[in-house]
Amino acid sequence: MDDDRPVDLLRNLKQLLEADHWFGVESLPKPPESEQPAPAQRPGGVGAKRGADEAPAVASPAPSVKPHPVADIPSTVHGAEVLAAIVERISACERCGLCAKRTKVVPGEGAAQPDILFIGEGPGADEDRQGRPFVGAAGQLLDRMIVAMGYAREQVYIANVVKCRPPGNRAPEPGEVADCLPYLERQIEALQPKVICTLGNTPLRALSGNPQAGITRLRGKPFEYRGYTVIPTFHPSYLLRNDAGKKPCWEDLKAVLAFLGKEPPKRG
Ligand code: URA
Repeated sequence: MDDDRPVDLLRNLKQLLEADHWFGVESLPKPPESEQPAPAQRPGGVGAKRGADEAPAVASPAPSVKPHPVADIPSTVHGAEVLAAIVERISACERCGLCAKRTKVVPGEGAAQPDILFIGEGPGADEDRQGRPFVGAAGQLLDRMIVAMGYAREQVYIANVVKCRPPGNRAPEPGEVADCLPYLERQIEALQPKVICTLGNTPLRALSGNPQAGITRLRGKPFEYRGYTVIPTFHPSYLLRNDAGKKPCWEDLKAVLAFLGKEPPKRG
């Protein structure tokens, strides 16, 4: 056993360097103010920033009881046309309080029949301005992760659990998640991705149905959601602040590729 250790150490070092090479943060700009960890925050409370294992916010208004805007879209229809219909409903949504402060809704974007669906938490300031998911500092890192896997951003689909920005980049409240989740559910049905990769706690909790689930313990552990395999990993915002998460994240992304029967492209 002991004889294997130098080999293991070398392998670990190689994997670390590989992860650094592919989505190292050294050339990324500093995260904007909105994504910097704020001092002395109550974990998971209203206003909490995204971290590895932040608990959900505690107080939350009950989800709306009105029929959901996508309730009439059958779960059996797929493809670009139904995706466009879902986007239309999201654009007009006033179901929860997040609509009051949004600049633009951020429905999601990408290929209509992707191998991989990435799911984040919710739009930040840049996304709210542009109406596109993951376009800020975390988005630049996600782009590099996608390229490291051998894909272009346009070949995957990127969505969020909530489609409007929670003020101050706080985690969305349970009622907001409940109000918004049917959009994501319909998107998944329309996209029929081969595999889903969730980023951070919020999508892990939303799809696993376990509000206590923690990404640090559950990352890389596949679970099933409505017949789809989900592989959870860290949120890129967390990786921007925590270099040590990059290596395990790269392992998770390689597990996503392995599920698809693929390997990362060779470094050239
Ligand atoms: N963080 C998210 O979870 N989603 C985005 O779209 C951007 C940052």
